[in-house]
Amino acid sequence: MKKRVVLAYSGGLDTSVAVAYLTHEFDFEVIAVAVDVGQSEDFEAIRQRALDSGAVEASVVDCKETYAEDYLSKALKANALYEGRYPLVSSLSRPAIVKVLVEEAAKLNATGIAHGCTGKGNDQVRFEVSIRALAPDLEILAPTRNWNMTREESIDYAKSKGVRVPVTKEKLYSIDENIWGRAIECGILEDPWNRPPEDVWSMTRVSQDDPTEVIITFKSGIPVALNDKEMSFLEIISNLNSLVGSYGYGRIDMVENRRVGIKSRETYEAPGALALIQAHKDLEAVTLERDLAHEKIRIEPRIAELIYDGLWFSPLMEAYSQFVDSSQKYVSGEVRLQLSPYSCIVNGRKSPYSLYDYNLATYDASDSFNHSDAEGFVKIWGLGISTWAQRQKGV
Ligand code: ARG
Repeated sequence: MKKRVVLAYSGGLDTSVAVAYLTHEFDFEVIAVAVDVGQSEDFEAIRQRALDSGAVEASVVDCKETYAEDYLSKALKANALYEGRYPLVSSLSRPAIVKVLVEEAAKLNATGIAHGCTGKGNDQVRFEVSIRALAPDLEILAPTRNWNMTREESIDYAKSKGVRVPVTKEKLYSIDENIWGRAIECGILEDPWNRPPEDVWSMTRVSQDDPTEVIITFKSGIPVALNDKEMSFLEIISNLNSLVGSYGYGRIDMVENRRVGIKSRETYEAPGALALIQAHKDLEAVTLERDLAHEKIRIEPRIAELIYDGLWFSPLMEAYSQFVDSSQKYVSGEVRLQLSPYSCIVNGRKSPYSLYDYNLATYDASDSFNHSDAEGFVKIWGLGISTWAQRQKGV
């Protein structure tokens, strides 16, 4: 009996060639699984393309809801931004996709999982580490990494096996997309000085629209309504993607450090994600006690690194998640965002659990702060400094 392998199938050139390669060179039965994490694709066409490429079975698994509920919600609660800027669009989808593949492999008695990542990127790391975490016994196959073909050669290989390839030799960019945003790389973008041409963007557009406001309601760190209309987290992300994207906000152009040691120029657009993270951070500013807020800000970059580095399923991530979840208990309330061309700013926030105390903060007559308490506090706070100044400074 032939061995069966589940392939993470995207419908693109590499995974289409991978179907043929695993079938012809390794004698596997390939089961193609396309996971819908919100990329704008014709999934029926993708499924058909997998079968045309030689897959014995092909299916599409819609995991958008789970992706939002189990993955994006954690990223949002942690304000996860890699190197302070990138909301981890591709990094978050890989563990979600792997979870589906592992379940499919168990259902279909497959002995291995294959992916179409190259050897230079981060995605291979995320796929393989996640597979090893969830199903250590499964074999991992990375045909694209091993076959040593240039793009042109793989197109020719595909043709020789009768596989219709979805791209021409002049393909412009490598694009990865899901509901948290879009990553666009390669082509003219490989020179970091080149301005991204307007055609790289599709979620954001040039805008001259009049400013507008949108109110996001959060409950324990998760958005639950837009302008008072209750919606699922997934619906909120998708509504914000269109609204915020229509103002041209959410574009990122950066050179980032890949896990494999390469600096790479990346462009992203993530209008909904960036608007939500901004609003969430702002609500935390009024609801988190000072030390908790500061501690959380210290670990957020570490959480982003773990996600980026493929360690979503890891004991450290699990421990950090519990810290983050516990911090979110009172992160409930409303944040108002003002949108105008290329801009999205917070211009108001409120919460039933707000620690902002008007009577303490005000400089008017209702001030309840005891000013005389401050004198002794400040003296003791600076005691070490005054001792140092008297004894050593200038000696
Ligand atoms: N550099 C980003 C990351 O590592 C995006 C990767 C995009 N992947 C792709 N196949 N275009 O998360």
